[in-house]
Amino acid sequence: MIRDSELSDLIKYEDFQPGELWLDTNGKPIQAHGGSVLFDNGMYYWYGENKDGPNSLSRIGIQRVDVIGISCYSSSDLYNWTFEGIALPAISDDPNHDLHPSKVAERPKVLKNDQTGQYIMWLHVDNEDYTLAKTGVAISDNPAGPFVYMGSKRPNGVDSRDMTLFKDEDGTAYLIHSSDWNKTLIISRLTDDYTDLNGEFTKAFIDQSREAPAVFKHAGRYYLLSSGCTGWYPNAALVAESDRMMGRWELKDNPLSGVNARKTFYAQSTYVFPVQGLENSFIFMADRWWPEELADSRYVWLPVTFMDDGIEIKWADRWDLNTFRK
Ligand code: GAL
Repeated sequence: MIRDSELSDLIKYEDFQPGELWLDTNGKPIQAHGGSVLFDNGMYYWYGENKDGPNSLSRIGIQRVDVIGISCYSSSDLYNWTFEGIALPAISDDPNHDLHPSKVAERPKVLKNDQTGQYIMWLHVDNEDYTLAKTGVAISDNPAGPFVYMGSKRPNGVDSRDMTLFKDEDGTAYLIHSSDWNKTLIISRLTDDYTDLNGEFTKAFIDQSREAPAVFKHAGRYYLLSSGCTGWYPNAALVAESDRMMGRWELKDNPLSGVNARKTFYAQSTYVFPVQGLENSFIFMADRWWPEELADSRYVWLPVTFMDDGIEIKWADRWDLNTFRK
């Protein structure tokens, strides 16, 4: 019999291999799509959609997997991830619940609120035909969950599909979401406890049809990566920059370089996060969707490089955190 400790010795990653199969410390493929990473108390937590079920075609002809829930994995080195369980599971016994398997639960993002000590998850909840277009909120006292579902709403009364969260250095937090049938990206302030919206919002990219937003801040400047709207199929990423979250955003160029950069390396942005203890080190997280078998979708993680006139995200078959030390 193989003991757990021996098993985890079998799988020991020492680098990132974008687009390759990524196993957890139990040897199972990581199921954390459309995800995000939170650093808390010396550990990283990776939240994402668990899509470990069969594909089916929705009534509007989109490939889907029934909602299983939001996975949580933990890691101290960012290469090796331990499954912590389903932090927000599907609710099977109520067909009207936002988290019923027949619904859609995508792009979970988690922030810690330093005032309340709570962990707050926001996610896109929808019907299988994407007409509900709401954001759901769930709360936990522990980063690995379980999260308690608080309900959903249309933020400031408008539709919301792809989304992300961003927490600024002063603790102010924002929801960034595609609205107006994905034509416009809206940035909305959260309340101080992060469980609701405080009513302030700005339309950042009107009629630009951007989705899959990922926001980060470096040296006082805000960056927003996004994709075009082509469902599970890849397109060109764009970066925008601003000096203020609620200010004027300048849509710049495609910051990716290398083979298939115009197709975002056959992936779609989901999050960017800083590596702890290493200056100027941010990791770009993207999903390489596999529409016909969504469970087998892969992850593309790459380093962000800062240059005088913007950022660059270069393809690498393999890389490790020493990249940031060079
Ligand atoms: C994409 C979106 C994904 C998922 C998919 C469904 O545009 O970014 O999160 O909603 O559409 O087709």
